[in-house]
Amino acid sequence: MSKTLTQMATEVLTTAEGRAKTALSKRYAAEWFASRTGDAPEMEIGTATPPLYPSRPEKPELLSPRDVPKRRPGTEAGRIALLHAVAHIELNAVDLHWDIIARFGHVPMPIGFYDDWVKCAEEESRHFEMVCDCLEQMGSFYGALPAHAGMWRAAEDTAEDLMGRLAVVPMVLEARGLDVTPGMIDIFRKAKAENAIAALEVIYAEEVGHVAYGSKWFHLYANHFFTEEASSA
Ligand SMILES: [Fe+2]
Ligand SMILES: [Fe+2]
Repeated sequence: MSKTLTQMATEVLTTAEGRAKTALSKRYAAEWFASRTGDAPEMEIGTATPPLYPSRPEKPELLSPRDVPKRRPGTEAGRIALLHAVAHIELNAVDLHWDIIARFGHVPMPIGFYDDWVKCAEEESRHFEMVCDCLEQMGSFYGALPAHAGMWRAAEDTAEDLMGRLAVVPMVLEARGLDVTPGMIDIFRKAKAENAIAALEVIYAEEVGHVAYGSKWFHLYANHFFTEEASSA
């Protein structure tokens, strides 16, 4: 029997190595969209039991934010540290988007909900890979530096609350990412780091969509939820 979407989401979550996770994520996104356009048999959403924490590579070492060494962005080491932090955020985002699919499979949502989050997961996978490519061109790699622990906190806190998840992840975390990206692009512009500028510009443009999806589904779900509450009261 073919896999359900929530099963595929869980498989991505339980894949540890970064590029293996993003390769699987892109493959499953392509399979989902092939089934949606009729190029492959229809796929069920199904239900799954995703892990509370996604699998992650052994490196980077995860530290509390105050223990992560600060580096000045005006130096090459500082720019590497900045991109390393972005790669960490992107990998976390891959898991966040598959997690909303896997975790809330029991909540009946319109099919467009899955389309939007699969598309986001595919985009985050490319973001991670682009930033890893930049790091490697600069002689570093994802895992070379310590990274923030506690990135999964928002997911943990909203593991049983779809409305909370929609409010916190796309509308707060991803919106905050949008706020800081232009400043980051400036830093790389000053260093004439063309590849990093190009990667961050793609990230910025696509993240605008993620925030919009969050807002759309939050409002749709909130409206539906409160209408149901009102009619059953
Ligand atoms: Fe991203
Ligand atoms: Fe995103």
